[in-house]
Amino acid sequence: MNLMRTKSIEQSLADAEEPDFKLKKNIGALDLTVFGIGAIIGAGIFVITGRVAHNNAGPAVVISFLVAALCCALAALCYAEFASSVPVSGSAYTFSYASLGEIFAWIIGWDLILEFWMVAATVAQGWSGYFNKFLNQISGQPTVDGVQENLLPDAIANGGHFDIAAFALSIGVGSLIYLGIKESMRVNMILVAIKVFIVIFIIIAGIGFITVSNWTPFLPESCVVGAADCPADASATSGGHRPLLQALFGGGAATAYGFGGIIAGASLVFFSFIGFDAVATTAEETRNPKRDIPIGILGSLAICTVLYILVALVVTGMVPYDQLNPTAALADAFAYHGVTWAAILISAGAVAGLATVVLTMMTGGVRITYAMCRDHLLPIGLARVHPTRRTPSVITILITTVVALLSALTPVGILEEMVNIGTLSAFALVSIAVLVLRVKRPDLPRAFKAPGVYIISPACALICLYLMLNLSVDTWIRFVVWLAVGMLIYFLYSRTHSRLATGETLHDVSEHRHHHDAEQVGAANAKS
Ligand code: ALA
Repeated sequence: MNLMRTKSIEQSLADAEEPDFKLKKNIGALDLTVFGIGAIIGAGIFVITGRVAHNNAGPAVVISFLVAALCCALAALCYAEFASSVPVSGSAYTFSYASLGEIFAWIIGWDLILEFWMVAATVAQGWSGYFNKFLNQISGQPTVDGVQENLLPDAIANGGHFDIAAFALSIGVGSLIYLGIKESMRVNMILVAIKVFIVIFIIIAGIGFITVSNWTPFLPESCVVGAADCPADASATSGGHRPLLQALFGGGAATAYGFGGIIAGASLVFFSFIGFDAVATTAEETRNPKRDIPIGILGSLAICTVLYILVALVVTGMVPYDQLNPTAALADAFAYHGVTWAAILISAGAVAGLATVVLTMMTGGVRITYAMCRDHLLPIGLARVHPTRRTPSVITILITTVVALLSALTPVGILEEMVNIGTLSAFALVSIAVLVLRVKRPDLPRAFKAPGVYIISPACALICLYLMLNLSVDTWIRFVVWLAVGMLIYFLYSRTHSRLATGETLHDVSEHRHHHDAEQVGAANAKS
């Protein structure tokens, strides 16, 4: 039964106050809302919208966005309740430690590492592609057969052998995070302003180019992938790319569009909403978390949902869905109408936008990993706070290095669906955890209460599960391997080292560290 041991909320709150482990509290509601938008708007809207419209749903990608938004809205309400009652670094991981038990906390934490670290690495790689495109555009590189030459050679950008651009971005972002949360928030605010301006520009400038007939059929009929009249790209929708549910119950051939296409599309555009949960990871650094975290989570999600629906409507209205460019639909929609300067502006928006996703998701990843190390489910030696900046400095360096190497050396960009499955599973567990905590700890003061929790919490878990089943067979195989590795680490290391198992307090850890540091100084003095 000790797999189900829980860490009391009071204990989590006390840990956050332990002097050697305390983070600096200096962020407010506006910072958090902008932080959320920084994490949300990115590769999803700039790249995945066009791909899903073209391959899965047609103009009904708008409905895919609505389905994904519904799922996220329910999860956001649950997150807001949790974060307003347990305002501690670590987000869903800490919540589930208090409610579901250690093994579930570990699984969620492991899923969140997948979400935050992988988003940072995949988006850094996507950023490099847009950065190169932007450089090509502003330097007026010549076009060959309608395709612009690359200014930076493929070997060092666009996911090449060693993607220097992705590497440099990750290191730059990591250094900023190291400097401090307030500094990161400031840079984030400027970049978010640029990207929101450009998204609004896409919507307003695009309206004039809408041809209403492009929305008909709004929901293209289901067709067999590979058939002459089926425009879906077979390499993205068949074989291992088939949704798991379709592969299990859909009979012989892979199909696209129709109802199944909308739901498969929803499970893919879900990526574009990921990030609002990053707001909850900064709870420990927020001045008034009980009020500001719910504002940050729900505010950023609401703003982005409206922008996304409008962008999806505009872009599918500008170009027939079967002619949308699956890799750069937004920029190409303007090029399609001869407005090439707009394409440059959109690339600039993507460069700013994708950078903030890396910044915010790495910030969140650092906080979650810090919480797991502080509980000694991962090595506690890594949980060190910078003496003056009060940020988790050692973990920042570790994650920066891993993200930089992943984004520079591996084709991590193809793993974005894995991020979705990891996040959806975390959302499902959080929504159950919020209900468990209501029953177990009715006394707990909750500054924000999710309305109709007995309905929205199971509904959220079911929608998450349904979307997960609509992700591809390959993604499921990778996810199962990821979980198996996680279980191995838990049973070989975390279960026995956990502070909950050993009874070690953070105060003991501090004493031990001070003692050790004093010994080191003594030894050094004796030598000299
Ligand atoms: N929502 C983030 C993006 O779309 C992860 O890039």
